[in-house]
Amino acid sequence: MHSMEELSKIPQHVSIIMDGNGRWAKSRGLERLEGHKEGVESVRACLEFAVEMRIKYLSLFAFSTENWGRPKEEVQGLWALMVKAIERETKNLVKNRVRVLVLGNLEQLSPDLRMAIEGLREVTASGQGTTLVVMLNYSGKWDIVQAANRFAEKNPGKKMVPEDFDSFLVTAGVPDPDLLIRTSGEERISNYMLWQTAYTEFYFTDTLWPDFRKKEFRLALEAYAKRDRRYGKVKSNNE
Ligand code: IPE
Ligand code: IPE
Ligand code: MG
Repeated sequence: MHSMEELSKIPQHVSIIMDGNGRWAKSRGLERLEGHKEGVESVRACLEFAVEMRIKYLSLFAFSTENWGRPKEEVQGLWALMVKAIERETKNLVKNRVRVLVLGNLEQLSPDLRMAIEGLREVTASGQGTTLVVMLNYSGKWDIVQAANRFAEKNPGKKMVPEDFDSFLVTAGVPDPDLLIRTSGEERISNYMLWQTAYTEFYFTDTLWPDFRKKEFRLALEAYAKRDRRYGKVKSNNE
């Protein structure tokens, strides 16, 4: 149906702000947690598509440092969902050669979740296919400040240049996102990767996260393929 040209430019790193689970549930008269559950199915579908399309990095904003401000039951429910998802999916991830990184302020998480995360990291570490990066208890400002503090500790009295900085962010080693998708109609960054998105292409869709599956993912890739990234330089002539 779609020509190969439309997807000729496959981004190396796609990042997604998965938003709209609560509204999806509300519109069906369900509890918010039901929306998060259905959202896990979208994660599964999008990861599968990323593997198919040989996208090297798929990063997902799963929990922001600000999300602690939600009702306790919702926060607890989200952690429980994550532990369950890890238990259920680990085998499949290994089989599909997916490497999983979980990045953020993990110190604040419960010991059982941290253990599950560490186990998942270990068993998927040799995965040569897509890297799934789960941004958990993450915020862009937190990342920048922890990077600055660690840099200062290691290099007392030294001034830094922008290039120094990347290796101190929690995303060190992960290339900056080429494409950032946000679902649910909100058009904001919500304290996500502030430093890393300096030249990222943004794609916004009204589709709520639980409804965002392969078809919607493909539309985003098609839109990306039409973008002309200039990085502040003069327009390239490769069309
Ligand atoms: C995104 O969906 C999931 C998380 C932030 C964990 P929301 O829970 O933010 O859903 P809405 O925005 O309230 O619809
Ligand atoms: C952003 O969504 C955080 C995640 C997707 C994890 P939010 O729903 O928390 O963001 P706001 O409140 O709409 O800015
Ligand atoms: Mg939201």
